[in-house]
Amino acid sequence: MKVLVVGGGGREHALAWKMAQSPKVQAVYVAPGNGGTALDSRLENIAITDVQALRGWAQSEKIALTVVGPEQPLAAGIVDEFRAHGLRVFGPTRAAAQLESSKAFSKAFMKRHGIPTADYETFSDPLAAHAYVKLKGAPIVVKADGLAAGKGVVVAMSLTEAHEAIDFMLAPETGANPLGVTHNAGGARVVIEEFLQGEEASFIVMCDGKNVTALATSQDHKRLLDGDAGPNTGGMGAYSPAPVVTPQIHARAMREIILPTIKGMAQDGIPFTGFLYAGLMIDAQGQPKTLEFNCRMGDPETQPIMMRLKSDLFDVMMAATSGQLDQIELDWDRRPALGVVMAAHGYPLNPRKGDLVTGLPSLDSLKQANAMVFHAGTVTPPPGQGGKGAVLSAGGRVLCVTALGHTVKEAQKRAYEIADGIIFAGAQFRTDIGFRAIKS
Ligand code: AMP
Ligand code: GLY
Repeated sequence: MKVLVVGGGGREHALAWKMAQSPKVQAVYVAPGNGGTALDSRLENIAITDVQALRGWAQSEKIALTVVGPEQPLAAGIVDEFRAHGLRVFGPTRAAAQLESSKAFSKAFMKRHGIPTADYETFSDPLAAHAYVKLKGAPIVVKADGLAAGKGVVVAMSLTEAHEAIDFMLAPETGANPLGVTHNAGGARVVIEEFLQGEEASFIVMCDGKNVTALATSQDHKRLLDGDAGPNTGGMGAYSPAPVVTPQIHARAMREIILPTIKGMAQDGIPFTGFLYAGLMIDAQGQPKTLEFNCRMGDPETQPIMMRLKSDLFDVMMAATSGQLDQIELDWDRRPALGVVMAAHGYPLNPRKGDLVTGLPSLDSLKQANAMVFHAGTVTPPPGQGGKGAVLSAGGRVLCVTALGHTVKEAQKRAYEIADGIIFAGAQFRTDIGFRAIKS
């Protein structure tokens, strides 16, 4: 069977890497892929990103199954397009992808269906938004409505920061962008919400429209710097499982958040298929609340999660695209996995491209070490440059060095040993990934 993975980040490298391990899969294509998927002989990059062109290519290649990684093609309707032409694809339709692509949609949905989340109001009028934050006080959270790659959120600790964020998001021409927010060009709307306290976790499930299967839990590290300081990023590292999600909290998240969401979407006439990612904030009383929904897997959460998945991903996906997830029991490696993101100089505001990355271990030696370096923003260099196996940086997050260990501490040690041997100019990485799970 031939499989297509859509996307070119670390998440897609991990999905493709895992898919290639299935004995039923003869070829795994990644569109557009990256330097890491180019270097792996079991994977092949396809330089097509246009949704219709990709659908045409998938038809002509007789692709048996397509898995979509990122939110942009989902929000652009790739699942609708593939399905309309009889192609098997795992992901939400464009309408269902609004759970992620519009904060206003997802907040209204949660309110309507009684799903725990922060109190909020939506604004398009800057004056009304300013008046609202004045009334509520700081800390308060200002979110741009629309896809913003994790960067459209300002957790304002002071009223000044909140006012600045509103000015930037609702009136970009006057905003000085002091917080480095990515402006949402699509619709000038903001969601302003209550500041929640607690510990975050990523709770990701697979849905086939009616059945739900939870993946292993995980925790991301969204801030750029050690100790959760610095600006928000797409994610600087992750590990699985997340001990904060106790069996009780797991049961509550399923009962209070995931199942009502799947049921609510079906009731609203937009059944959800695909990965559903609830970003949870878990308070001191063990109450999980939804910070956000994503309609896809997390990046970098996918990397440690795929390292721990023992089941055949192809079988799982075939069940998930035929309404048979109830037939599947996912099998996980009991060992934790941990991934450290190595990011480019200048990330997240202005990442530099074109730095030569050297010291990448061979795929064989990584396998021996129960580790893997998943690539994200990398490309293979032009012929004659860089030497065998070297790549050039080509994006903000460059690599995610992921390892299994008998404890989180051991997984962390292995991942950092490998990361320390990988060299590129200006590389940034946190040195404390997994700290919440390590008690020493
Ligand atoms: P989001 O993209 O909505 O998940 O927001 C990005 C990050 O901002 C989250 O991972 C949290 O760390 C933080 N955040 C978002 N909403 C809130 C909130 N209501 N209270 C506290 N922190 C938040
Ligand atoms: N790591 C957070 C996300 O994928 O949205």
